Amino acid sequence: MEILDGKKISNQIKDEIAAEVVKMKEKGEKVPHLAAIIVGNDGASLTYVGSKVRSCKRVGFESTLVQMPSTTSEIELLKKIKELNENTDIDGFIVQLPLPDQIDTQKVIMAIDPDKDVDGFHPTNFGKMALDMSTFIPATPFGILELLERYGVETQGKHTVVIGRSHIVGRPMSILMGRKGFPGNSTVTLTHSRTKNITQITSQADIIISALGVPKFLKAEMVKDDVVIIDVGITRVPDDTKEKGYYITGDVDFEHVSKKASYITPVPGGVGPMTIAMLMKNTLLARERHRSRR
Ligand code: GUN
Repeated sequence: MEILDGKKISNQIKDEIAAEVVKMKEKGEKVPHLAAIIVGNDGASLTYVGSKVRSCKRVGFESTLVQMPSTTSEIELLKKIKELNENTDIDGFIVQLPLPDQIDTQKVIMAIDPDKDVDGFHPTNFGKMALDMSTFIPATPFGILELLERYGVETQGKHTVVIGRSHIVGRPMSILMGRKGFPGNSTVTLTHSRTKNITQITSQADIIISALGVPKFLKAEMVKDDVVIIDVGITRVPDDTKEKGYYITGDVDFEHVSKKASYITPVPGGVGPMTIAMLMKNTLLARERHRSRR
């Protein structure tokens, strides 16, 4: 069994990006600038956005954090998005999800300029991804592809089972793993909350990508020997014995499943850090695309 070390690979990617930024600076070019909007005080979201901003500093990007109260109206958020769309200093921005109930997430995503949509959530970018056109690939799926590629995990002709059909992970992942090329060329099954007899499906999988958010959902009895496991779940489980009052766990019963797996991502330290590294990569890409503008 080999650990797919997202922490190590994400650091390599950030080093590569930082080297690009140094070159940009030497040439007197503007460095990439990422902005992040967060609405409300959700602890996990604040942690993720904090990491994104810290990573910008680490690679030499400029960053702007826009914090808005949980009572923010849809109109106020749309106005802020318009400002960021029009601000030529900003290469890309994200609106951290989930948003409070009074805000329509689809409307918000539609309002982002596709050229600055470094999350790759806008229908224009999602459509381009599905059509194999050059675009921003959503950071978590992009990070998973990068991890598979850098470890040389064979995907061609393999049966990949994706668990969860979210717009952020499961749905795009199912499209990307079936694309022509590497990583890809997989035969993909997309499973979700209404799937019947999921064990029958997971036990036939060569590769399982789980993005469900149910702690330790995937048990050793549900997988075959030598399976490749990508665990996207990051759930905070309340625990008074921990300093923070919780511990983090994935969708996979790591202790037992890892004994059968050929490759497996840990939680934390697997997919999570890769997501942030690929957001940096998309922001670099956005800057390169905007270079001709100014
Ligand atoms: N919430 C959970 N994952 C993500 C992500 O990749 N981007 C944004 N904007 N929000 C998220």
